[in-house]
Amino acid sequence: MNREITVLVFAKLDERHVAQIQQVDPQVRVAAVNDRQKGIEVAPQAEVMVGWNVPREAVQRAPKLRWIHSTAAGVDQLLYPEILEREIVITTSSGIHQPLVEHVFAMLLALTRRLHVAIRNQTQRRWERSQAMGDEVRGKTIGVLGLGHIGADIAEKAQVFGMRVIGTKRTPASVVGVDRVYPPEGLAEVLRESDFIVVALPLTTETRGLIGERELRTMKPTAILINIGRGPIVQERALTRALQDRKIGGAGLDVFEREPLPADSPLWGMEHVIVTPHVSGTSPGYMDAAVPLLCDNLRRYIDGTPMLNLVDKARGY
Ligand code: GLV
Repeated sequence: MNREITVLVFAKLDERHVAQIQQVDPQVRVAAVNDRQKGIEVAPQAEVMVGWNVPREAVQRAPKLRWIHSTAAGVDQLLYPEILEREIVITTSSGIHQPLVEHVFAMLLALTRRLHVAIRNQTQRRWERSQAMGDEVRGKTIGVLGLGHIGADIAEKAQVFGMRVIGTKRTPASVVGVDRVYPPEGLAEVLRESDFIVVALPLTTETRGLIGERELRTMKPTAILINIGRGPIVQERALTRALQDRKIGGAGLDVFEREPLPADSPLWGMEHVIVTPHVSGTSPGYMDAAVPLLCDNLRRYIDGTPMLNLVDKARGY
């Protein structure tokens, strides 16, 4: 039986991306909205919603909603009661986050090669070799917290740089390129041994506030923390203090407890900290990877076959 399936996309989409989605099936009707209010108006017709975040108000007004496809990897921002309590399926865009992996290495290499110092000196036309002389990552240990899709990709690239990789995984299993995979209880061990700690975890009840004062104290005083997961996984006040007191070597931060990071945050002004405004996962070509994945899942949704990247709502990722 033919019916119309309205796919409401909370993003600005190119015509060709709209056409790509429309081509999945003649029943599909795409509404791409760049403004929240318009989305809320279309919501009552929507059976599918797509976006990094979907306004709660839109979900409240969408009795036909059956499926939300997130263009992000993390879905903590979607787990509000209306979605948890209703039979709404969530899928993610896990697997297309190459920019994020590159961002991790951009931060890691910049801090190691002391580009953060060289760039500051450059703005003042200062030739300071001793300040800008960097270390190398070869032979160093990187601890990846959360060896999921993204974590495993980070591990693979780290190996190419000659790094030793260890990490944690909720359901421990061997991961290619990882020297030792610890269960979450092995966190202290990973913190103790690593020269770089990368937070690649989803935000769940178990990971919220996971890295606090004690954990930061467990890290090497020279270690660098990189967070591209979610801000609230790291207790920001404890992190700020550890950085101020030089209890750790530095940080590369793309996510924060509060976003935008408030202008009065001391993190902005710290020389050994690189702040980026939650951009690690994206690039101009992001939708070129995200749309085919959405289309694949839309075909599966229509055919009733198993969908990719299904979220376990109780688990939170
Ligand atoms: C972005 O933050 C993502 O989860 O992909």
